[in-house]
Amino acid sequence: MIIGKNKLFDFDTPVERRATASLKWDKYGNRDIIPLWVADMDFRSPPAVIRALQQRVAYGVFGYTLAPQELNDVVVAMLKNLYGWEIEAEWLVWLPGLVTGLNVVCRAVGEEGDDVLTAVPVYPPFLTAPKHFRRHLIKVPLEEKNNRWQFDFDRLERSITAKTRVFILCNPHNPVGRVYTRDELETLAAICKKHDIVICSDEIHCGLILDRDKPHVPMASLDPDTAARTITLMAASKTFNLPGLGCAFAVIGEKNLRRRFKEAMAGIVPMVNALGYTAARTAFEDCDDWHAALLEYLRGNREIVQAAVHEMPHLSMAPVEATYLAWIDMRAAGLKNPAAFFEDAGVGLQDGIEFDGPGFARLNFGCSRGLLEKALQRMAVALEDHFK
Ligand SMILES: Cc1ncc(COP(=O)(O)O)c(C=O)c1O
Repeated sequence: MIIGKNKLFDFDTPVERRATASLKWDKYGNRDIIPLWVADMDFRSPPAVIRALQQRVAYGVFGYTLAPQELNDVVVAMLKNLYGWEIEAEWLVWLPGLVTGLNVVCRAVGEEGDDVLTAVPVYPPFLTAPKHFRRHLIKVPLEEKNNRWQFDFDRLERSITAKTRVFILCNPHNPVGRVYTRDELETLAAICKKHDIVICSDEIHCGLILDRDKPHVPMASLDPDTAARTITLMAASKTFNLPGLGCAFAVIGEKNLRRRFKEAMAGIVPMVNALGYTAARTAFEDCDDWHAALLEYLRGNREIVQAAVHEMPHLSMAPVEATYLAWIDMRAAGLKNPAAFFEDAGVGLQDGIEFDGPGFARLNFGCSRGLLEKALQRMAVALEDHFK
């Protein structure tokens, strides 16, 4: 039980998700495998969101729906309050998901045959979106230095070609859990300015920063030049556990870039659904106490994962600064197929290969503590047996 400002929130009691057509849980059917893979949390959404959805459903009319003006106002105010980032409502473009946004950026900027740059390991759709539009992907590895994942800026700059049009940034970074500092972002922005590259900044995890001393800095808030070359993608979906409701937004301050983005959406991107808008508005406006309680619970889970992984033979991980995802280095364990090994032990992790990080696996700790402890116990026993 976690105490919010005025209320108790229960993240401990497991919610039955088997046979609910959940992507995460149905993957393993009735097999005894604890699913700690795809990035949704096992928690119920905030009570205020559930109430708002119930009211919206009771109204009973589900026609095509525009983004409510109140929602635009809530987003504008939130970005100013949280990050000191001043935007205008007309810069917002609502989307049924961030993955849609990543793909639209790849379609909107540059031409077929151009290059798109990103830093790996990274969320798999970053790797696939460019080729959907016949762009060529250039991958620059992040490096783990002093127990912290970092950009190698020299290598990144050397990878840029005359045809590089877009850099796709993930901040906070899935899967390595970094919250990039203002300095790091400024260096990146300077490189993109020098080579006239558009930045697509996926900030879906910005509400999930666990380290209290690491503020989220929206890329587009750095300075006017960066603002003009950045398409920011955000949503309430990760923070408030609403990914199945399909509602996200892009912030695009530069009007030609915004026009190109909208043109690339035309005819293929559907409108956001009425319930997605309702949930997003309530989440942003009315769920601060639930959000604070969630972060507290996730911090506890993070400590448990980090401590357990450090005790496991040949496994290691850098500290998770943000997200509920742990990026575990299994290379020293010499397992042929780490995800399959742990699946056999009853734990469903996501294989690092999908993120361009072979030898690693990603563990989702957005679940009840009891379930997490059981999964970690299974992992520890499997490794001990293996190395006996
Ligand atoms: C970095 C990142 N971007 C986008 C998404 C998914 O966004 P959506 O469900 O809105 O398409 C995820 C989900 O895990 C993610 O981690």
